[in-house]
Amino acid sequence: MKIFIDTAKLYEIKEALKWGIVDGVTTNPSLIKVAVEAIKKTGKKIDMEEYIKEICYLVGKNGSVSLEVLSLKSEKIMEEAQILFKKFNPIANNVAIKIPIDTFVNGNKIGHYEGLKAISMLSGMNIPINVTLIMTPEQALLAAKAGARYVSPFMARVDNRVREQLDINYMPEDYYDSELEKEIASFKFKKYLENNHNKSIANLYEDKNIKDIVSSNSDTGVYGGLDLVEQIVKIFDNYNFRTEVLAASVRNKTQFREVAKVGADVITIPFFLFEEILQHPRTEIGLRTFCENIVEEYRELLK
Ligand code: E4P
Repeated sequence: MKIFIDTAKLYEIKEALKWGIVDGVTTNPSLIKVAVEAIKKTGKKIDMEEYIKEICYLVGKNGSVSLEVLSLKSEKIMEEAQILFKKFNPIANNVAIKIPIDTFVNGNKIGHYEGLKAISMLSGMNIPINVTLIMTPEQALLAAKAGARYVSPFMARVDNRVREQLDINYMPEDYYDSELEKEIASFKFKKYLENNHNKSIANLYEDKNIKDIVSSNSDTGVYGGLDLVEQIVKIFDNYNFRTEVLAASVRNKTQFREVAKVGADVITIPFFLFEEILQHPRTEIGLRTFCENIVEEYRELLK
């Protein structure tokens, strides 16, 4: 599994690249905003072009840097994609252009298909496309058919939606256990039936509340972020798509392990998660003991 870092902060990218395990960088307008604001806070100015060129250079020719377009109309998306690709790909031949799967936002009149049009045309021009904001397996399937290099299923965003539907209080970094979530849904279902035991089967069958409870533990048939990734991996496998599954919107280390278990090609994670992945109390205790047991003769050897 390839590991990308989900950040536009140069110091995080520089540090993570030193560890020899990072294969790429993913950015988006929100991540760029965070990076730019952090720089501005120090009183410095940012030359965006030079800044991104440095990221591409540091990641190098064996890696990948995802840069996102801003527009919603296919012609504009294509224009922006080509600007980004021409400016930054020559640095290390590693740029992928990020395009949203659906361009329908705030009820705009442009419609849903603009992203897809741009994805297929740009892919036809051999520009690698990372299709972003994937929330369903069928969106991923269309992106793959359009020739995308990567699809980015947003795990935490799907998890959040399901948890909100179930009224679960959660912290963003909480591990999301879909089995537990299924139990909660079934508990709610039983409770509702108990409270409505005098209704006829025909009435219950038509009862909208029941339909809501039953569907509350999924987001259009997806039971959580991991389930989304797993379903996409399976579909791509069925049809031998070459599009890589890039698990995105990752919040905790358990997701990292589970994504690897279901066979995603790539995962992109925020900087802080690397530390969490490395930490274990027993590793720390073990190391403390080793440090306490160092004998002088051995220390001398290493001077
Ligand atoms: C990755 O490519 C995405 O931009 C990223 O993971 C966004 O997810 P988040 O905003 O939910 O963290």
